[in-house]
Amino acid sequence: MPTQTRTVRISERAQSLKPSATFAVTARVRELRAQGRDVIGFGAGEPDFDTPSAIKDAAINALRAGQTGYQPVPGPPETREVIAEKLNRENGIACGPGDIVINAGAKHTVYLVLQALVDPGREVIIPTPGWVSYRPMAELCGGVVREVPGAIDNDFKITPRQLEEAITPETAVVILNSPSNPCGTMYTPEEINALADVVATHEHVAIISDEIYEKLIYGGVEHCSIGAHPGVAERVITINGLSKAYAMTGWRLGYLCAPGDGGVVARAVSRLQGQMNSHATAFCYPAIVEAITNGGEAVEAMRREFGVRAELIHGLLTEMPGVICPRPTGAFYAFPDIGAWFGRTTPGGATIECAKTFTEALLEEAHVAVVPGDDFGDSARRHVRFSFACSTELIIEGCRRTRAWLEEIA
Ligand SMILES: Cc1ncc(COP(=O)(O)O)c(C=O)c1O
Repeated sequence: MPTQTRTVRISERAQSLKPSATFAVTARVRELRAQGRDVIGFGAGEPDFDTPSAIKDAAINALRAGQTGYQPVPGPPETREVIAEKLNRENGIACGPGDIVINAGAKHTVYLVLQALVDPGREVIIPTPGWVSYRPMAELCGGVVREVPGAIDNDFKITPRQLEEAITPETAVVILNSPSNPCGTMYTPEEINALADVVATHEHVAIISDEIYEKLIYGGVEHCSIGAHPGVAERVITINGLSKAYAMTGWRLGYLCAPGDGGVVARAVSRLQGQMNSHATAFCYPAIVEAITNGGEAVEAMRREFGVRAELIHGLLTEMPGVICPRPTGAFYAFPDIGAWFGRTTPGGATIECAKTFTEALLEEAHVAVVPGDDFGDSARRHVRFSFACSTELIIEGCRRTRAWLEEIA
């Protein structure tokens, strides 16, 4: 008889997953604050603004009007029409409503696209430093991740040559993310087009272009959608969402645009979605329409504020001893190299072995929370991420504490 165990068995798949590093830091900050500690949080990957009220009203009105039942899996056609028009107008992506699938957040959308494109053993190219969730999501699909490191003196961007060398017959997809989380840097239109030229010559390779930070740019670099490049347009899946641009992280609204091959990718994602979570929350669709149609002014105010903070934090970080930090031009992150401090002892007696121990000691001793680079890829291990989704006063105080702490390190 087989031996009986007294606990349920957790699948290897679930056991292999670590909690998201960014959510883990946010949770620890909450815990410390609940204990009465005055912690300055540079951890959270979400705007510190509230959702503009007209967007809230659109959802409230829909809720009151009874828009509470099941919806078509990819979202109502009129909402997808508005998204398709936006992508044609703003991004130069030729598409129609049938190419759009709306879902509960860009994160789940990226995951479903990977599920649709990656068979076990096929390769997923991730330029690093790259967002913490790409690797686990690709691995959940059985994909083999090939990291391509972007050099710090090239603002962490990969070159066409590096991309060419990383592509193999087994490559399923390349994930691009500009503006970048965690780097806060952007590819120029010329650089995007040069990467597109490489993929254009490899017809079996798809591109996931995660453009969730496209509206938050302030460094003079123009945002460019690779889905507008004629050589690859049919193979690009553009990902976007409402979380970052409109301060709507908790609403869970994201979408994809996959215009190629008669909508084969959009249909595959819809099939997956239909068996998993069906669709986004019914009464939120009018909020998407309101945000895209009339949200420009609110976005502009937030964008300007992030630009001011980016300058401020970049100046303060680069003045710190042993810290190298490229200038952020998009999103709301700075990603300094703090590796010069490895091997040193903190005022509290801890040895800084890596970015993770640096982060833990900074939090415990100086009460400043940042995210260690480790989970953003091998090339990110000397780095920590500062999210500047907080007021200028907090940026000044948090950087003052960090600098004072660094100056006391032996
Ligand atoms: C690069 C990137 N893509 C996607 C997402 C997910 O956004 P959403 O809130 O729409 O799931 C995030 C959120 O942190 C992100 O940084």
